[in-house]
Amino acid sequence: MAEIISGKVLAARIKAQAAQQAAKLREKGISVRLAVIIVGENPASKAYVRGKAKDCAECGILSDVLELPQSITESELLGKIEQLNQDDRVHGILVQLPLPPQIREQSVINAILPQKDVDGFTDINTGRLISGEECFLPCTPAGCIEMLKSTGMQIAGKDAVVIGRSNIVGKPAALMLCAENATVTLCHSHTENLKEKCAAADILIAAVGKAGFVTGDMIKPGAVVIDVGINRTADGTLCGDVVFDEAEPKASYITPVPGGVGLMTRAMLMMNTVRAARNQAQGRGDGEKR
Ligand code: GUN
Repeated sequence: MAEIISGKVLAARIKAQAAQQAAKLREKGISVRLAVIIVGENPASKAYVRGKAKDCAECGILSDVLELPQSITESELLGKIEQLNQDDRVHGILVQLPLPPQIREQSVINAILPQKDVDGFTDINTGRLISGEECFLPCTPAGCIEMLKSTGMQIAGKDAVVIGRSNIVGKPAALMLCAENATVTLCHSHTENLKEKCAAADILIAAVGKAGFVTGDMIKPGAVVIDVGINRTADGTLCGDVVFDEAEPKASYITPVPGGVGLMTRAMLMMNTVRAARNQAQGRGDGEKR
């Protein structure tokens, strides 16, 4: 029987901290502000953006949601980002992904000033993550690490398997686990002997995007299982990548879906936004040491 790592409880704690820090900045005359750009009508993206705006309101962070048409050109979008870069009232900029096919996603992301890149997706922040420099960490893997740490487990020296090599989750999760001194295996659709690799993992992070992908036989007894998947089944219910009922009896700790990593992603975004505002108030770029 595993203990459940509650994203609800942890995220609430982190958001309370973000709110406290935003209030402190407000006393100094700084109103923390996040700009969120959404292009097109993707329902999942719209739901995510609504969630982010709600979190901002709860944390005393101002949020501007810019809804742009699916037909927008890359240069028009770059123009919007430039305006937000120049606007000193805006501390964080987030471009909701995915973007329409006519737009080169990474070019747009890289247009965001690194000190306003609260998603941590620019090449500058990724490079700093690789080098071990201070940077904005991508929110979902940062949330996963917080969840691991909340168990009190020692990450150093453990065998960690990450399934999924996306730029948003899998790759940065592997880098962050590496920075915590875990021994990391980054698995993906071409990985051979995936089951065996997973079944040897002390820490298993599933970021595949396929319901029921991780079955009970892929869990090492006592493993800590972090389920990043948010999938919708045919009947509309949300589920993760892990077959919870099979994994839970074998794991020592496991995250639920819903109520797990998703809430942590949003909470970490609030922390990154407050930090961006604080850094900018101190007149320093984010790469500089505290
Ligand atoms: N699309 C799916 N997840 C994310 C995220 O964390 N940030 C952004 N900007 N877009 C996403």
